[in-house]
Amino acid sequence: MVKDSRSHNDCLPEHIAIIMDGNGRWARARRLPRTAGHKKGVDTTSRIVQLCGERGIKALTLFAFSSENWRRPQEEVSTLMELFMLALKREVTRLHKNNVRLRFIGDRSAFSQKLQDSIQASETLTAHNTGLQLQIAANYGGRWDIIQAARTMADDVLNGHMQLDEIDDQAMSARISTSDLPDPDLFIRTGGEHRLSNFLLWQLAYSELFFTDVLWPDFSEIELDEAIASFAKRQRRFGMTGEQVEEQVGA
Ligand code: IPE
Ligand code: IPE
Ligand code: MG
Repeated sequence: MVKDSRSHNDCLPEHIAIIMDGNGRWARARRLPRTAGHKKGVDTTSRIVQLCGERGIKALTLFAFSSENWRRPQEEVSTLMELFMLALKREVTRLHKNNVRLRFIGDRSAFSQKLQDSIQASETLTAHNTGLQLQIAANYGGRWDIIQAARTMADDVLNGHMQLDEIDDQAMSARISTSDLPDPDLFIRTGGEHRLSNFLLWQLAYSELFFTDVLWPDFSEIELDEAIASFAKRQRRFGMTGEQVEEQVGA
């Protein structure tokens, strides 16, 4: 059997990307303000980060705030910003102790100077950590990511550092915000919606997708392991035939 001949590590996704969705509905179901859902969601986030580290996942990228989330009521946006500050303050020491390298992807220039400084400080503190590589996507959009990569390539061509025919998959991947990481093997979205909502558009080209109706505040070890187990059962073909993949695995 193909699956049995794979080593344990082949079955484990190296990089997991998650859209943490459903905080608002979780709160509404309890007649609480939406922000109560976000608070609860932060607790889930720290548990899942811890669990991914324990499971031996190498990289985890979490969608915390999209470039479109500014459209929400101003009060909700402000609370989310405050929560980021608090969570950073609360978590960074523990993350550092756990050898987690923390980085933010997205356009941080829209955040307050105070938040930008905290982000920078947390990245500097954890820069050399070799455990879980944790990316928080904040004011992130997949299209923004592709556009900023395209701009740097155009700049390189204009300045003579690059030839036009050197623009290819690799050149693009080298300039995208997750350039030093493999593309996500497994994508998880909680909260029941089946869409990408402008998350890692370039990087998710060949990721395995896992959707669950469970709302992010309720997402637990059980669903995480369910997603990882589902990933382990899938055959990734990257355009080839199933038989070709089996031959490769058997070789
Ligand atoms: C995800 O939960 C958190 C953010 C987008 C910041 P939502 O706030 O989108 O929750 P729902 O989708 O309204 O339930
Ligand atoms: C995606 O969730 C963004 C985050 C989880 C941070 P949304 O709740 O904003 O997505 P849509 O608007 O339902 O597509
Ligand atoms: Mg949502």
